[in-house]
Amino acid sequence: MIMNPRHFTSLLDLSSEEFRHIIHRAIELKNYRDPDYQPLKGQVLAMIFEKSSTRTRISFEAGMVHFGGSALFLSPRDTQLGRGEPLHDSAKVISSMVDCIMLRTDKHETVTTFAQHSSVPVINGLTDLQHPCQLLADMQTYFEFRDDIKGKTVTWIGDGNNMCHSYIHAAMLLDFNLNIACPTGYYPQQEFVDAAGNRVRFFNTALEAAKNTDLCVTDVWASMGQEEEQKHREIAFKDYQINAETMNAAHKDALFMHCLPAHRGEEVTAEVIDGPQSVIFAEAENRLHAQKALLEFLLCKK
Ligand code: CP
Ligand code: NVA
Repeated sequence: MIMNPRHFTSLLDLSSEEFRHIIHRAIELKNYRDPDYQPLKGQVLAMIFEKSSTRTRISFEAGMVHFGGSALFLSPRDTQLGRGEPLHDSAKVISSMVDCIMLRTDKHETVTTFAQHSSVPVINGLTDLQHPCQLLADMQTYFEFRDDIKGKTVTWIGDGNNMCHSYIHAAMLLDFNLNIACPTGYYPQQEFVDAAGNRVRFFNTALEAAKNTDLCVTDVWASMGQEEEQKHREIAFKDYQINAETMNAAHKDALFMHCLPAHRGEEVTAEVIDGPQSVIFAEAENRLHAQKALLEFLLCKK
């Protein structure tokens, strides 16, 4: 057990320096893999998934194994969480047996409540409000392909969703400009925008937002839990696709990112996501390296 554990419920749990440290450490861990480096030998990560996942589950599980530890996959279907056991009791019990807890759930308060009552670090593996682990990987990817993102311009096109909120946090911490183009009614929540001050700017069209940008990012139009809104959203978002025209408005060497899974032909064309500016597979792989750096940061004594 760690006294006063550090949690990672949001990117804002990190300082700018800590965020940059994790990015650089992730790059180091990726480039110089030492199988004998097992800082989490014998340690256990509990992973609670109330929603589907490919990347998050595999990257955390593989990362723990690389570090000499192990990970438990817990689904609400098979635990008492799914039968309504109070969160505060669950957090106390689970944290008394493991060294770290990762949660993927819809309500952000579930993660913050867990963190309040857990004696070990709690990591947000995605909520309806934020997806901070993805931003560790996205920023690592930008640093690898280019360099520090400070002073650069990033363009978010599409839904003002959990990914967009975490991009706003990243802009605040790493000091880049974030251009956003979203259809009316799908803007990010105002409290996120207000906190970012002049780091965030809104544009009426995707093309205006993408002008001279260094990185274009998007995400699905309907997130997990919004499947029944799919048809309605296809209409609302039809002008908010990243395509060749959008990429032409950006800097010539602009990158394209998407957290995946993607819907080709909706939020992005196949030409762009499978084209030369897309770095989606490095971005996906970097979930592993970035989260290893995060686990080391949270669990290893400095
Ligand atoms: N990007 C991401 O979080 O992927 P998964 O839903 O597969 O974990
Ligand atoms: N916005 C998406 C991200 C998936 C990784 C969702 O919440 O489903």
